[in-house]
Amino acid sequence: MAPTWTEPSPTPLLHLLGNYSDPDTEKGVECPGELPKASAPDLVERALVAKEKLGDRLFILGHHYQRDEVIQFADTTGDSFKLAKDAAARPNADYIVFCGVHFMAESADILTTDLQNVILPDLAAGCSMADMAEISQVETCWSVLEDLGIAKTTVPVVYMNSTAAIKGFTGKNGGTICTSSNAKRAMEWAFTQGEKILFLPDQHLGRNTAVLSMGLSLTDCVVWNPWKLMGGLTESEIRDAKVILWRGHCSVHGRFSAQNVADVRERVPGVQVLVHPECQHEVVSIADVVGSTEKIIQTVANSPAGSKWAIGTELNLVQRLSRTMPDKEILFLDKTVCYCSTMNRIDLPHLVWAMESLVQGQLVNQIVVPEDVRKYSKLALERMLAL
Ligand code: 13P
Ligand code: SF4
Repeated sequence: MAPTWTEPSPTPLLHLLGNYSDPDTEKGVECPGELPKASAPDLVERALVAKEKLGDRLFILGHHYQRDEVIQFADTTGDSFKLAKDAAARPNADYIVFCGVHFMAESADILTTDLQNVILPDLAAGCSMADMAEISQVETCWSVLEDLGIAKTTVPVVYMNSTAAIKGFTGKNGGTICTSSNAKRAMEWAFTQGEKILFLPDQHLGRNTAVLSMGLSLTDCVVWNPWKLMGGLTESEIRDAKVILWRGHCSVHGRFSAQNVADVRERVPGVQVLVHPECQHEVVSIADVVGSTEKIIQTVANSPAGSKWAIGTELNLVQRLSRTMPDKEILFLDKTVCYCSTMNRIDLPHLVWAMESLVQGQLVNQIVVPEDVRKYSKLALERMLAL
């Protein structure tokens, strides 16, 4: 029988809340001036005025998972790959306001010039997946591979959803960054550089790419648990593996189940299931189409009127697709609603506050990657952009 894989423990719902403290009370990140109330009736008007005043000095990037109230002010929208490219292509904007999460703003800072300032409107907009790999844990894993004499033939392939410090580790150790749009190309490149891949932090994207796109088997992959000695693996398991997957996952995409797919197929005859590769392997392997957020949008946009889609990705995006393409039936794959709580931290009050502060000459919530980390993380990001 073909080997199957399922997440050993269900994702605790509490995790969706993220482990972030309120930025307004955090030392060093207090708002200069007051954060407007969400109920303020003039928020849209204030955003328009501030944006107009800042003109070409301001460039707003919006990830597809952002709220409508924010996305309406974005100068460009995209998935994490497109936004990284868009940020790098705007050398004349003084202020890059990143409506997304922390690791994306860090990448924008790495890819922009020293004269540009990257701003994250709410510093609490992190990513629970990125938090599942800490640099000290990754270094411990790497030193185990070094002790076994296999680090020199192992290539780190690291998902964009990781801290700048981990991107720096990747660049230093001959690896590349990838996103959900180019994970296959990144793995193909890595196998031209070495014999084994260390893929982190999303085990699902790593497994789905290795097995469904690269034709490896599930038994070619092992899971490194950063909380266990030797990752919870034996020496021979590590030596025999072609891909060492980090035990991390997305709390939003990891929730979709094979049962959700079966239920919607029964409920809605003719429906096609379209999921993000951060979903579990058992879901991705039975879906009709798999793709990054950008591919999800293109797939639905290019489908004929009357098509029915059940989509397994973040809810803001699914709702927007449903609203903007009324000629198609677009459903959320799960019956339980689930937004990415940290993406949702960026709301119109925070965007207005960030822009109005800039109008007053106050740079707030700036994301600055330290120089020693920047050099190698830039190398890893540039390897990805060149793939
Ligand atoms: P993409 O933007 O690469 O599709 O990734 C999805 C995601 O979860 C971003 O946090
Ligand atoms: Fe992180 Fe998942 Fe939210 Fe993306 S959707 S920011 S991977 S928790």
